[in-house]
Amino acid sequence: MKRVAILISGGGSNMLALVRDMTGPHPARPVLVLSNDPAAAGLGHAAALGLPVAAVDHRPFGTDRAAFEAALMAPLRAAAPDLICLAGFMRVLTPGFVGHFAGRMLNIHPSLLPKYPGLHTHARALAAGDAEAGCSVHEVTAELDGGPLLGQARVPVLPGDSAASLSARVLLQEHRLYPAVLRRFATGDRRPVFLP
Ligand code: GAR
Repeated sequence: MKRVAILISGGGSNMLALVRDMTGPHPARPVLVLSNDPAAAGLGHAAALGLPVAAVDHRPFGTDRAAFEAALMAPLRAAAPDLICLAGFMRVLTPGFVGHFAGRMLNIHPSLLPKYPGLHTHARALAAGDAEAGCSVHEVTAELDGGPLLGQARVPVLPGDSAASLSARVLLQEHRLYPAVLRRFATGDRRPVFLP
């Protein structure tokens, strides 16, 4: 059984989708929900489910990412995860931290990578006139939103879409895609999952 730590910064809807899937014969179990924001709503949702939660506020560390990450390592070491799932975790991680979990850290990103790494993905897809948008799960490497692809789900862009309406439609697919990828990845199978 693989031990999974989930890192969040906000509402944690992807975290909840992963947690809800990790039951029965699933090859993994959640062992920690960790946030860089002590006020992240997802921490409350996780605690309500009886999951171990922790927060390391990044703000006192200012621009010292390495010091912030050293603090993040304390609850992570205690939880001893096999896998890390970034689920709406909005801090950029240093190559040192990423290297520590090489091949064991996943991220979900709200675009069809390699399109639109970084922020404001939906606004960028709309501005480009794209006919479809979607989400990707990838292995985390030192390159921002750049590691090997582990899964993708596509959604049509509809006439009249705003960044908010498109984001909401993509988020529903994120909740299907990330659990499907983790289920496969946790068995050691790195073939990407493509959802229609
Ligand atoms: C999700 O849409 C996720 O793909 C995105 O943040 C949202 C978090 O929602 N992540 C990124 O933009 C990472 N760069 P959630 O907290 O409800 O899962």
